Amino acid sequence: MNQATTLEQITALCKRRGFVYQSAEIYGGLNGVYDFGPLGYLLKEAIERAWIHALQVEPGKEVLFMDGALLGTERMWDASGHLKNFHDPMIDCTACKHRFRADDIVREKACPHCGSYGTWTEVREFHLMFKTAIGAAEGSQGVAYLRPETAQTIFVNFKNIISTNRVKIPFGVAQLGKAFRNEITPKQFLFRVREFEQMELEWFCRESEAEGFYHFWIAARQRFFAALKMNPDNIRVRPYEAHELSHYSRATSDIEYKFPFGWKELEGIAYRGDFDLKQHSTYSGKELSVFDDATQQSYYPHVVECSIGVGRLFLAILCDAYREEVVEGEQRILLKLHPFLAPIKAAFLPLTKEQNSATEALYYQVRAATGLSLQYDASGSIGKRYRRQDEIGTPLCITYDFESAKDGCVTVRHRDTMEQERVAIGGLVAYIQKFIMPPSLENR
Ligand code: GAP
Repeated sequence: MNQATTLEQITALCKRRGFVYQSAEIYGGLNGVYDFGPLGYLLKEAIERAWIHALQVEPGKEVLFMDGALLGTERMWDASGHLKNFHDPMIDCTACKHRFRADDIVREKACPHCGSYGTWTEVREFHLMFKTAIGAAEGSQGVAYLRPETAQTIFVNFKNIISTNRVKIPFGVAQLGKAFRNEITPKQFLFRVREFEQMELEWFCRESEAEGFYHFWIAARQRFFAALKMNPDNIRVRPYEAHELSHYSRATSDIEYKFPFGWKELEGIAYRGDFDLKQHSTYSGKELSVFDDATQQSYYPHVVECSIGVGRLFLAILCDAYREEVVEGEQRILLKLHPFLAPIKAAFLPLTKEQNSATEALYYQVRAATGLSLQYDASGSIGKRYRRQDEIGTPLCITYDFESAKDGCVTVRHRDTMEQERVAIGGLVAYIQKFIMPPSLENR
C-alpha cells in the first residue's frame, strides 16, 4: 500500500470499476451488506481458490472440505455458547438516537454523529445473531438462527466426517461459506459487515500436539499471505492477553493487517481445546469422542482453528495492491495483484481497427483453450486501454499489431514494469498459464 492510500480511494475504485456495490442501492441501500460485481466476483473467487489451494498442498497435512447449512437449531447455538455469549456492548446517543458499539465511544467526548455532550444511555448488551422462524411451527420449536460462523457445522458433523472418510487424527476440516452477524455499527467498507463469507479451518488433534499445531498454523497462515505477495510490513501477529480470550479459547493470536484505518484483525488463530466437541456431545446426547487404539481409551480431539473473512482479505489485498504513479506526466492507477488473483488474467487489444477481427478471433481461441477470464478491448487509444487494465490489475496486455499476421507473434506488455516482449502466438496459451500459476507456498 502507498503511504497515502486511503479507504476512500479503494471504495471509489471499487465503485468506479464495479468490484463492489452497496446492496439494493436503488432502494437506498442496506447498511453493512454489499454485492460483488463482475470484477469483484472474479477477485473474490480467486482469493477463495488460493485459500483452498494452500490447504490442499500443505505437505503432510490432510484437509477435507465441506459445505454446511446456513440455518442452525437453537439447541446447537446454545451448545456452542453463542446464545449466551455472542453479544457486543452498545450505547445510544439520546440526542440523535444514533447507536454505537460502546467500545468505540469515549463517554466524556461528544457524540461522533451529532456532536452533543453527555447524552449517552447506559451500556446494554446487543445480541449479534439473526433469529428466524422455520415453517409453521409455533413457539420455540420453529426457532432457527443464521450462522454467525461456519465452524459449528463442522463440529456437529464431526462424527459423520470421520465415519465416512478414511482419516486419522490429526486432520483438518475446512469450510468456506456465508456467515451473518447483526453488527451494531458495520463500518470501514468490507471490514465489518452484516453478511459475509468466512474461510475456516478446524484442525483436530491430540491434546499433547495442540500447542505445536497452534504455532504451526500461525506460521502457515503467514506464509499464505506472503505467497499472495502481500507486503510483509503490513502483516503482524498479535497474541491475545488472557482477558481478551473468547469463552471457548485457551490461546488466540490475530494476524493483523495495517489497513488505512490502522492495525486490525485479518485472521484469527485460536486453540479451542476440546470445548466444541464436548459441548455438542452433552447437548445432543450423541458421543463425539474418538477411540484411541494405542491407549485403548476414548478422548475428545482438541481443535486449532484458523478463521478469516473473505471480504476482509479482499479489502486488505486491494489496499496492499493499490498504487498511484505518474508516468510521462499522466496519472496511472495500478493494482499490483498477484497474477493468480487478478480478475482479468490477460486483455487482448488490437493496435488499430484493422486488427480487430484477428485479435477477437485470437481472444476467443485462447479463452476456449484456457477457460480463463480474459477481455477483448478495442475502444479508445492503446494508452487508454492499458490504463483501464492497469486499474483493475490485469497483469498482461496482448497487442495484435501490423507485424502479427506476418511474424506470428504478439506484443505482451507487463502491468508492473510496462515492459514489452514479443511472444509467438503458438506459445501464448502456455505462456499465460505459466504466468498465472497459483501462489507458491515458499519457505515451508
Ligand atoms: N469461528 C471463529 C470466528 O468466527 P471471529 O474472530 O469472530 O472468529 C473470524 O471471526 C474472522 O471472520 C475475522 O478475523 C474476520 O476476518 C472475519 N469477520 C468476523 N466478523 C466479521 C464481520 N462482521 N465482517 C467481516 N468479516 C468478519
